[in-house]
Amino acid sequence: MEYKMIGPEHCDQVLEHLRRNFFADEPLNKAAGLCQNGSSCAALESHCAEAILDRMSVMAVDAKEQEQGVCKVVGVVLNGILKPGDTAKALSKLDTNDDAGFRKIFDLLHRHNLKYNLFEHFDVACMFDVRILSVDSSYRGQGIANELVKRSVAVARKNGFRLLKADATGIFSQKIFRSHGFEVFSEQPYSKYTDVDGRVILPVEAPHIKMQQLYKAICGGADQDEKEQSR
Ligand code: ACO
Repeated sequence: MEYKMIGPEHCDQVLEHLRRNFFADEPLNKAAGLCQNGSSCAALESHCAEAILDRMSVMAVDAKEQEQGVCKVVGVVLNGILKPGDTAKALSKLDTNDDAGFRKIFDLLHRHNLKYNLFEHFDVACMFDVRILSVDSSYRGQGIANELVKRSVAVARKNGFRLLKADATGIFSQKIFRSHGFEVFSEQPYSKYTDVDGRVILPVEAPHIKMQQLYKAICGGADQDEKEQSR
């Protein structure tokens, strides 16, 4: 497996991977019925493309599996730079989005992040935001997500970020982030995200029961991550 930084020139390959994997099987996307496996979702694609432009994202490619000379993308972590005001702006733009599933998901995430405000708590001017973690279903269980998160922490450190955050939506991603030294700042049980009539808005399938807002404060030398890895 090779790991490479994602540039804007990889956008099509990365989106193709996400259409076949993350778009249909991430727990909230699945609960919202966002899209069928392999199909596109304009709103989520522009969210992903925006993160790629920040040039902090990493992909895993299977160099042995080439399609017309292009390596197969089998995993990605899309990281973006988050500044104060970005989340409020994204929330205000949601009203004009015509994808009901996308609105349900991002209404939950954005409102939660505005309520549990990491900028205020940690007094930082920007954060390294781990937005999308995805591994091809036929390559799971081989440590690819672990490696992508490890490399993201290294990218954040190299670029001088003091704080990383991730909204982890399922128990496996939550475990992965915690194993890299992320800590839980807040949680949102899916059973408590309800409409005015008390109906659950996103009926997320077990074993996933809550979203965790996780953070990792960066301090210490470069060997800190290795110590955390060996825990
Ligand atoms: N069942 C049991 N354990 C699991 C599973 C599973 N289905 N998936 C991962 N794990 C555990 C592994 O046992 C491993 O634990 P260990 O470090 O103690 O050995 C750990 O999680 C990491 O496993 P990896 O092999 O590195 O994970 P993988 O490459 O399979 O990718 C991922 C995990 C990204 C969650 C993948 O299943 C996926 O793409 N799911 C769909 C999309 C999704 O839910 N993404 C995360 C949403 S949150 C966000 O994007 C910020």
